[in-house]
Amino acid sequence: MKPLIELRQVSKVYGIGNTEVRALWDVNLTVEPGEYCSIMGPSGSGKSTAMNLIGCLDRPTSGAYYLDGENVAELDDDALAHIRNRKIGFVFQQFHLLPQLTAIENVMLPMVYSGVPSQERQERAAAALKQVKLADRMNNRPTQLSGGQQQRVAIARAIVNQPLLVLADEPTGALDSHTTQDVLGIFSELNATGITVVMVTHEPDVARLTRRIVWFRDGEVVDANLTPEDIGHLTATV
Ligand SMILES: Nc1ncnc2c1ncn2[C@@H]1O[C@H](COP(=O)(O)OP(=O)(O)O)[C@@H](O)[C@H]1O
Ligand SMILES: [Mg+2]
Repeated sequence: MKPLIELRQVSKVYGIGNTEVRALWDVNLTVEPGEYCSIMGPSGSGKSTAMNLIGCLDRPTSGAYYLDGENVAELDDDALAHIRNRKIGFVFQQFHLLPQLTAIENVMLPMVYSGVPSQERQERAAAALKQVKLADRMNNRPTQLSGGQQQRVAIARAIVNQPLLVLADEPTGALDSHTTQDVLGIFSELNATGITVVMVTHEPDVARLTRRIVWFRDGEVVDANLTPEDIGHLTATV
C-alpha cells in the first residue's frame, strides 16, 4: 500500500542570512492511509509549519512531499488549491466559520468551490451535519452555537468533500474538557470510516486517544512512533 503522506528530507527555511529561521530541517515522515496520529512538541518546534506543508497550504524550501503517491512539493498555487479541495479537510483551533452564514451554508462552501450542483450541496451538507450530530442546528449562525457545536460545524465542513485526510491544528485548544471529548469522539468516528486524521495538540490527554504520536523539537522529528503508553507519564500541557 502506498503511504498517504510521505515527507522526504523536507526543510522549510524562512528569511535569509541573519534572519534565517529553519522552521523544519530534514524531516522524514510517513503516514499510512487510515492512521490516526497526533503531532506534539514545544511551541516553535515546527508543528504548524509541518501541517501547512502536509495540507498543501505551502511548499517546502527543499525536499519532496508525496501526497497519495504524487509529488506535490513543486506544484503551483492553482494545482495545490485543487488538491486541497479534493483530498484534504482542515479544522482549526478558532473554527474559522463565516459569521454571516448559517451552519449548513458554511458546510456547503467547499462544494461551491468544487462545482457541486446546488441540490447536491444541500443534501451532502445536511448529511455531514447529521454525521457530527448537528441535524437540529443546521440553520443556526455561529453566534447561536456553543464552541463545541461550532467546531463540529467546522468538522462537517472539513469532511463534506469526502477527503482522504483531515488535518486539525489544536482543534480542542479553545474548548472545555467536556466538549473536547465530544469533538474527539467525532474524530474517532471519522477515522473508523477510513479517513486519515492528523492532529496537532499540546494536551497529552488528547494525544493519548490517537494511536501514534510524532514528536517535534527544533524543526526536527525526534520520534515518529511514540505510543499512547510512551507519553503516559506526561500530565502537564506541552
Ligand atoms: N511565516 C513565518 N516567517 C518567519 N518565521 C516563521 C514563520 N512561521 C513560522 N516561523 C518560525 O518557524 C518556527 C516554527 O514555527 P511553527 O511551525 O509555528 O511552530 P509550532 O507550531 O510548533 O509552534 C518558529 O521559530 C517560528 O517563529
Ligand atoms: Mg503551531
